[in-house]
Amino acid sequence: MMPYACFRPDLFWERYYYMDMLQKRTYFIETYGCEMNKSDSLDIALAFEQRGYTRARSEKEADVVVLNTCAVRENAEQRVYGRLGYYRSLKRSSERDFFIVFAGCMAQEKGREILQDFPEIDVCAGTYHYIDIPEYVAECERKNTRCITTDKSQYRFSGFTTKRAEGHRAWVNIIKGCSNNCSYCIVPILRGPEKSKKHEEVLREVRDLAEQGVAEITLLGQNVNAYGKDSGDIDFMELLEKIHRVEGIRWIRFLTSHPQDFTVEMIRRITALPKVCKHFHLPLQSGSDRILGLMNRRYTLAHYARLVDAVHEYEPDASITTDIIVGFPTETEKDFTRTLDACRRFQYDDAFMYKYSERPFTKAANFPGRVAKNIAGRRLEELIELQRGISIARNQKMIGKTATILVERTSKKNPAEMLCKSETGKMIVVRTRAPVGSFIHTEISGISGSTLRGMEKSFQ
Ligand code: 5AD
Ligand code: SF4
Repeated sequence: MMPYACFRPDLFWERYYYMDMLQKRTYFIETYGCEMNKSDSLDIALAFEQRGYTRARSEKEADVVVLNTCAVRENAEQRVYGRLGYYRSLKRSSERDFFIVFAGCMAQEKGREILQDFPEIDVCAGTYHYIDIPEYVAECERKNTRCITTDKSQYRFSGFTTKRAEGHRAWVNIIKGCSNNCSYCIVPILRGPEKSKKHEEVLREVRDLAEQGVAEITLLGQNVNAYGKDSGDIDFMELLEKIHRVEGIRWIRFLTSHPQDFTVEMIRRITALPKVCKHFHLPLQSGSDRILGLMNRRYTLAHYARLVDAVHEYEPDASITTDIIVGFPTETEKDFTRTLDACRRFQYDDAFMYKYSERPFTKAANFPGRVAKNIAGRRLEELIELQRGISIARNQKMIGKTATILVERTSKKNPAEMLCKSETGKMIVVRTRAPVGSFIHTEISGISGSTLRGMEKSFQ
């Protein structure tokens, strides 16, 4: 096993930049977890491309493989361990050498431990250092050593404003980290407190994207509603209103909101902005006030219900989606019934539902009253079953309605059909010749399974 060293990017990276350019190196990135990680992976890719690397067609051809990992639940970690096992055997059996970079949340969490357990890993780069990864690889090569960096003293946004587009759509990070400290969640520990990007930078990025022909942007943050609070910059609503004035962008989305930082007034102002999509993702987590208290969510079911009522009042056609955790420590059948009741009452269009997963360093990891795995499993199944019925019923209500939808990609099952997305975030299959990135006007004609189907009326 090689020793590992701390890295000084200032000392040498320019020399290696030219070396990478000459050698036409390739990179390959595997991404796990949320939209934030996908967006970080795009920045990692751009950092490699700036140094002359090109994207490899597969991991087997790459000079550098990056695993951008997620630590939010244990099963996400297990998947990554599985992949590390695969890369271990690939490295052993392969005739050519390649670098393995372990990045993201698990890298931040495990640090040196992962280097000890997996001697094949060359670079371990935590959540504050993903854009420096190409320099760490160069350092590794130059010194024939392994690198680790999990320092959290200073955060830098990538500053990449071009080529962040995925064709017609793009993510725009507006805030990183989280200062909420929900008792079950490892994210604030790994990603640090909230850090807002300057609003001038956000606007520059959005204008650049509009010039590149991007039609849809998604503003990203662990808690977008907290935008500006850490830096004293303008707040989220002001930012949204400024972005709304940028010409060329047709749809604006944002992810994720915290109900504690959301108000009825904000919902009124958001629904007055026609370019902001009619979709609210409002993570409920639990329908029981007692559990919400233990989770340190800092809102009650009554506050949450006022937000949902406001969405219905100001934008009756809006969709609402949520995140829910079952089996949180001490959750009783009564608490769980309250969660089921909340789902019936709020009639979510869709929900991401999880079994509580104990995470190291979190407050909840020390809570008594663990819920047995089989009970949590049964509750999750019951909740998924209930929500499946609600989602289908919500979709059925759309039949006969018309909507403007965005063409996203060709259907794998039938190349004559395109997968399109509505403003409310629903996928609709349509037979059309309209190209990816265009908007079509459609009538929702039916459902097969849980997928909506539409008939094209016209395209713009
Ligand atoms: N166990 C289960 N689910 C979790 N989430 C976050 N931490 C945990 C955990 N320890 C879920 C929450 C959050 C979503 C992104 O992941 O529902 O909203
Ligand atoms: Fe985790 Fe809560 Fe922050 Fe979301 S708001 S990232 S659940 S601590």
